[in-house]
Amino acid sequence: RSIDAFKIHLPQVAVFGGLRLALGQSYTLRWSLAGNISDKFDCYPGLDASREACEELGCVWAEDTSNLDVPYCYYSSADNGYSITELRYSASGATANLTFDQGSRKAFERATPPISTLALEVKYHSNHLLQFKIYDWAKPRYEVPVPLNLPAAPEGSDRERLYDLVLRRKPFGVQVRRRSTGTVIWDSQLPTFTFSDQFLQISTRLPSHFLYGFGEQEHRSFRRDLAWHTWGMFTRDQPPGYKLNSYGVHPYYMALEEDGNAHGVLLLNSNAMDVTFQPTPALTYRTVGGILDFYMVLGPTPEMVVQEYTQLVGRPVLPPYWALGFQLCRYGYANDSEIEALVEAMKAAGIPHDVQYSDIDYMQRQMDFTLSPRFSGLPALIEKMQREGMRFVLILDPAIAANDSHYLAFERGLQEDIFIKWPNSSDIVYGKVWPDLPNVEVNNSLDWDTQVELYRAYAAFPDFFRGSTQRWWEREITEVYSNPRNASLSMRFDGIWIDMNEPSSFVNGAVGGCRDRELNFPPYLPQLGSRSQGLSFKTLCMEAEQLLPDGSPLRHYDVHNLYGWAQTKPTLDTLQKLTKERGIVVTRSTYPSSGRWAGHWLGDNTAAWDQLDKSIIGMMDFSLFGISYTGADICGFFGDSEYELCARWMELGAFYPYSRNHNGNTGRRQDPVSWNSTFEALSRTVLNLRYSLLPYLYTLMFEAHAHGSTVVRPLLHEFVGDRETWDISHQFLWGPALLISPALEQGIREVNAYFPPARWYDLHTDQDVGFRGEFRSLPAPLGHINLHIRGGYILARQGPANTTFYSRQNPLHLTVALSDSLRAQGSLYWDDGVRIAAYEDGVYLLTSFTATQNALEIRVLHRGYVDPNNLKFNQVKVLGVASAAGNVTVTQGGQQIASPHVVSYDSQKQVLDVTGLELELGQDYKLEWS
Ligand code: NOJ
Repeated sequence: RSIDAFKIHLPQVAVFGGLRLALGQSYTLRWSLAGNISDKFDCYPGLDASREACEELGCVWAEDTSNLDVPYCYYSSADNGYSITELRYSASGATANLTFDQGSRKAFERATPPISTLALEVKYHSNHLLQFKIYDWAKPRYEVPVPLNLPAAPEGSDRERLYDLVLRRKPFGVQVRRRSTGTVIWDSQLPTFTFSDQFLQISTRLPSHFLYGFGEQEHRSFRRDLAWHTWGMFTRDQPPGYKLNSYGVHPYYMALEEDGNAHGVLLLNSNAMDVTFQPTPALTYRTVGGILDFYMVLGPTPEMVVQEYTQLVGRPVLPPYWALGFQLCRYGYANDSEIEALVEAMKAAGIPHDVQYSDIDYMQRQMDFTLSPRFSGLPALIEKMQREGMRFVLILDPAIAANDSHYLAFERGLQEDIFIKWPNSSDIVYGKVWPDLPNVEVNNSLDWDTQVELYRAYAAFPDFFRGSTQRWWEREITEVYSNPRNASLSMRFDGIWIDMNEPSSFVNGAVGGCRDRELNFPPYLPQLGSRSQGLSFKTLCMEAEQLLPDGSPLRHYDVHNLYGWAQTKPTLDTLQKLTKERGIVVTRSTYPSSGRWAGHWLGDNTAAWDQLDKSIIGMMDFSLFGISYTGADICGFFGDSEYELCARWMELGAFYPYSRNHNGNTGRRQDPVSWNSTFEALSRTVLNLRYSLLPYLYTLMFEAHAHGSTVVRPLLHEFVGDRETWDISHQFLWGPALLISPALEQGIREVNAYFPPARWYDLHTDQDVGFRGEFRSLPAPLGHINLHIRGGYILARQGPANTTFYSRQNPLHLTVALSDSLRAQGSLYWDDGVRIAAYEDGVYLLTSFTATQNALEIRVLHRGYVDPNNLKFNQVKVLGVASAAGNVTVTQGGQQIASPHVVSYDSQKQVLDVTGLELELGQDYKLEWS
């Protein structure tokens, strides 16, 4: 008999199920090979493919019902209609024309015909960076106005370049090869290549099935699944959900080659797009405008790929030290007294709490820059909290209420001409967001659309590209900080949370609808949620007009994905001008380079178990994108959280760089003091642990800022030689040295954790675990998160406190975890925690630690800062010391100095513990033991 129940698992494993072969009988199994299904390139993407339309293009129609994701209409020849003419190679690249053979047919060509002559420009920017750009030879087209850091003149030399480029003449294609191995890492000589006004398509073969990146979407694994999946990219107020395009756009991926070399590819295009992965392995980009402008970095290690990418787009911001503290927020605080009571309760429970937020509740009718009477005590509360060492962050939305006659922000916005308008018109494009109309009594029991219709005010959208808008934004924010009309309303916030900046609107397009069908429903509609509403779903009409600082017009169609991006830098600049400190901006919508100015939370998640591992994957994705200050809403935004879920989430969230418990306005309370004393104890313990590790985390943040390394680090970034790590999604590292293996499922009391090949010590017990290169089941009772220190590294730690203001004054410790070869190293970056450009101005201290089995050397590498608290290392713990150790001496500049320490050695744990030391931060020392 024949069976058809089989699945193809990647890579290259066929599983046959439903067989029922009786033991004791002989059988022969035969299977047929389905041909190269995986080589099928879609000839008619989108939903309206038909046999007729397909065959008209000269493509093959074959309905394959075994897998509905395999294209029915596929190319039968390699030709893409374009060929190269006028090719010129130079020492630093090449130029060519691409000519379209008018005899060729293309999908959507009636609506958007292929451009007959294209220009191709290839630039070898450096030994590891190359760019190739394809645009209309005859006519300028929109190009992304996001500045990249490109060398003014080509760097490096032909001899040392990591890549070779080959241009294929006919059909046109670009091939990039890694010179050291010959691996072809990019090959676009494929039939899909198309370039028309509103439909640009390019595919490449991939060197392996190991692909990471693209966003922002929710994913089930860190490695992308190549079994026929399409992902939309278009910024949208869209809570994380399967196959849904969310808040930011990152047309960027990292891929591993079979030998573990890594490279990264950015498509600098900001139009609505999607990308299809297929098992060939290959991927296809489809975008509805702009040009094809690719940047490729050659690594060769995954960490180097991030360093090279962030060199190109800009390094992640260094947040102030306090921003690494624990943060609390909720949408729905009734008044300032509720916030005050919460802060007091956290303090009384002794749970670390550095940053408190207010969501839009503090505003009058949710209008920016106003203060609701219910929050009239907020200005004083903020100052009181600051006196106690805490910090305060306020939310701001971009949309400005337009129905009030005396709303200054709107009036001044009108005067300064800052709002987005209809093209060739002086009329503003109005949407609706949170701001309510004046004098309405909101009935929350009505359905959403009715509420939007009845209660929401018209809202105008500032165009953040314009200089006038940036000045207006600065002034409005300044008047919240220092209210010139009523000083008692001034709110001295420390950070700004920018939300709804996709931009989000609660009416699709505009009040009254959109006017330009071509733009809102382009011939090819990328695979985004809610296709029936076209591109203006939950946002502005695509024809809305924006202006560059020089006054040249832009269509929202082209720059929609840059709305949040354009708002971010002006917000940070304003914040820093006001507070004269580094501050934090946390933004919902991001684009490549947003990390230079802001962190990002992963949006409106749900209080559900599956969101725990998704948050790890999300943070790892953003690590690739160069945004290191990230985290998800701890305990979940939508719905009621639940005890065990929230407890596990506090454990995991204690290891988010951006550690904030935030809740929607309908769920039950979920802050640490809203459960019971056991929950409080567990939160206290895990947050104290976090606080004790903050010097290490801050140093990682510094490394990211200065050198572009990752903070939340995927295991494969440290152990690329171990293929097992290429698929790990549920564990992550902090930098190179701390392995975090959280419990992510309900009811479990053990976690199955992978230990890459290295020596590992349990952070809780200081003991060498004694295994590596395998999965192990580890006890994980509620309240316990598994943390392991990697042998070979030294972590600087500090006693915890309720806020970082106090923890920063506590004694420091060093945990030295010896490697197999009995060595370890580490470093500590320290500054005053808030100074703007502390690193760039050299006002910091950088200390290195180097250990062998009988000595530790502390050496100051950069002495630009003296801490006023007279900080000292008072403890050094050395893990993995196999034989009895003692008799510790301390020397400075070769001279032994008196030191009041106490030494103990635990032979069972193999730990040497030196306490009572007084090693001043900022001084060189050597510790030796026998
Ligand atoms: C949407 C944001 O994602 C959420 O965090 C916030 O609470 C609400 N807007 C209300 O401001």
